[in-house]
Amino acid sequence: MKGVIALLLAALCFEGLNAECPNPATLKDDYESKLCAQMFEDSSYYYDESCTGSFFYVYPGEDTPIMPRAWEDRISSLVVGRGCSLTVWSKTKKQGYKKKFSAGIVYHLKEYKKGLLGNWNNSISGYYCTC
Ligand SMILES: *[C@@H]1O[C@H](CO)[C@@H](O)[C@H](O)[C@H]1NC(C)=O
Repeated sequence: MKGVIALLLAALCFEGLNAECPNPATLKDDYESKLCAQMFEDSSYYYDESCTGSFFYVYPGEDTPIMPRAWEDRISSLVVGRGCSLTVWSKTKKQGYKKKFSAGIVYHLKEYKKGLLGNWNNSISGYYCTC
């Protein structure tokens, strides 16, 4: 019985490592460098299936008023590292709507209002991240 429980726990942990949004307190790139934020293409109504799809790393101090075309208006979930804050704009060159996210996990950008009727899903076109 103990073995089965241990196995189950191990499986759950493994699952967590793969699927859950990364922990803001330990947000790092593949080479253990501290990240300011990480942005993801997809989100899901299942929390543990958010932060999926393609992603990219944002380093402390990164100022990107013009995102590569491929990434413009494509972010659906994100994580901001501990002690950092991420400001995003809905239009390139820091125009349009603006929103600041502090450290934490944003599972669904759709839940964050943009203006009167919109939301931030697939709406980020530029950003600035600082720690
Ligand atoms: C975000 O927007 C894209 C494109 O409109 C859509 O395919 C996706 O389902 C949306 N995500 C959510 C969580 O609504």
